[in-house]
Amino acid sequence: MKRNSPSSWSIDSWRDRPALHQPEYPDADALKEAAGELAQFPPLVTSWEIERLKERLAEAAQGQRFLLQGGDCAEQFSGCNSDDITAKLKILLQMSLVLVQGTRLPVIRVGRLGGQYAKPRSSACETRDGVELPSYFGDNVNRPAFEEKARRPDPWRLLRGYERASLTMNFIRALVGGGFADLHHPEYWDLGWVEHSPRSGDYQAMVSQLADAVQFMETLTGISVGDLSRVDFFTSHEGLLLEYEAALTRVVPRRDGWYNLSTHFPWIGMRTAAAGGAHVEFFRGIRNPLGVKVGPSIEPHEIKSFIEPLMDALHPDDEPGRLTLIHRYGAAKVADHLPALVEAVRSTGRTVLFVCDPMHGNTRSTDAGIKTRRFDDILMELEQSIEIHRNCDSRLGGVHFELTGENVTECTGGARGLTDDDLGGEGYRSLVDPRLNYEQALEMAMLIAKRINA
Ligand code: PEP
Ligand code: CO
Repeated sequence: MKRNSPSSWSIDSWRDRPALHQPEYPDADALKEAAGELAQFPPLVTSWEIERLKERLAEAAQGQRFLLQGGDCAEQFSGCNSDDITAKLKILLQMSLVLVQGTRLPVIRVGRLGGQYAKPRSSACETRDGVELPSYFGDNVNRPAFEEKARRPDPWRLLRGYERASLTMNFIRALVGGGFADLHHPEYWDLGWVEHSPRSGDYQAMVSQLADAVQFMETLTGISVGDLSRVDFFTSHEGLLLEYEAALTRVVPRRDGWYNLSTHFPWIGMRTAAAGGAHVEFFRGIRNPLGVKVGPSIEPHEIKSFIEPLMDALHPDDEPGRLTLIHRYGAAKVADHLPALVEAVRSTGRTVLFVCDPMHGNTRSTDAGIKTRRFDDILMELEQSIEIHRNCDSRLGGVHFELTGENVTECTGGARGLTDDDLGGEGYRSLVDPRLNYEQALEMAMLIAKRINA
């Protein structure tokens, strides 16, 4: 099917729409110059990788694959190093193997990385001791230190972000291309935490079944599991800074339309998903698969009037794999909201992939004012989502986590029973939202794996 750009769309048409959550750059000329340089740089991903991911997402929407998407809330430039990247890839690969085993489906692995450097903030300014400065909007925009110079949005940081994204992707491509296969082998996993759980026996059984399955398959085929799944790792980030996204959106030889070549799978955040806004206008014109976050700020009785124009803008042709809706209602609200979302989508007659982000609806503050999330709330939202989809004759086709491969203490609960008192200090490293640590992430995968296809 020939697909040109949709009517009245151009690479600049978003500029006539309200663009929320964009930094206020003090120097407009510098922004123009930085974006112009960015537009000359080579792509970070290719159109054929993007199309391949779209095909796989289409299969996930049909129940033939499952999506695992995860990574930091906000990547930091300082996290662009061997240890952090390796740890993130390792936990995602290990979770994916657990999910393959539990769901009996091939898992699509998508990192929130290689460009997750910009954040929408609830408030544009932050006040401390009577001093007001711009909020920290992610490393692509400004720096976290509470100082005037650090917080001033600097357009040249877009180039530093592109470079970090490029370094990250280069290393990941090398790792998944070979030499990282051992991570699939449960005998190399860090499983010290398992003994702390009352479910220890179940976890041990699962790991030993996995080890047997991997060994059996390798013996049978003579191919290592690492080799079998070598190419299957994709990148994603929130498509927030439209100058950055536009500068890396290109026409590709011998293909129709425009591709955002900064990432395989951009998503539109909850705060910028209104159909009349600049983000939806920009993203409707590109050929990548798209995610859209949907949260409780839209009430069930409003969801139909939110979804219809959104689908008309982003998913008019019902192209397989094109649209993923990432719902993030929170454990307390998912039962009220999700059935209405499923129904609203169904009434459009189009197919989407439904994914649950069980992180963003479950954020709370401790008495000490630390932002955190409970392991059990995250699990509960996932379990409810699986069940609600099933009851609505729909299907949960993927999960979206904020996680890290490091041993941080940002979320409470899990096998080691982290409490509010364990948070803060050295182990709390996120500058924005709290992430599951290595152990919590692996345990979460083990707990949901079997339920998805049960
Ligand atoms: C995020 O994914 O970090 C985020 C800001 O999510 P949401 O748009 O769902 O609030
Ligand atoms: Co977040």
